[in-house]
Amino acid sequence: MMIRAAFLSIACVTVAMMQTPAVAQTGDSPVVKAATAGRTLPDAVDRELVMEACTRCHGIDVVLAQPRAPDEWIQVVSMMVASGMALTDDEYGRVVTYLSANLSYPVAGPE
Ligand code: HEC
Repeated sequence: MMIRAAFLSIACVTVAMMQTPAVAQTGDSPVVKAATAGRTLPDAVDRELVMEACTRCHGIDVVLAQPRAPDEWIQVVSMMVASGMALTDDEYGRVVTYLSANLSYPVAGPE
């Protein structure tokens, strides 16, 4: 009886060890996805405008990659306009205001 129980527990450990690599492989990607999915624009006035306007050519991750000073956001948005981004003057102002208020150094520093 004792011997049989010992054999069973060894068998279970062996099976568990054999399964570990497979579990780790399939377990990785949902974790990575969850981490990226959590990275999104802060909820504030004009979030939807920025979300729509700044994901026409690339993902929002590019925008979230690093905080920038308000001056730098003006440069970035001007650069996007130069790359062909269509924005009215009103939208330009609101986008720059949103980015400066929500994604600049003092408010949203590096994690
Ligand atoms: C017309 C297409 C287009 C739109 C719309 C657009 N971008 Fe870009 N963006 C680009 C391209 C092309 C690059 C790559 C430029 C490069 O790295 O030379 C880029 C790169 C960037 C980068 C990385 C720049 C760097 O040097 O690190 C940031 C930040 C960025 N965009 C922010 C924004 C924001 C914020 C918006 C919304 C206001 C926006 N983009 C909308 C085309 C666009």
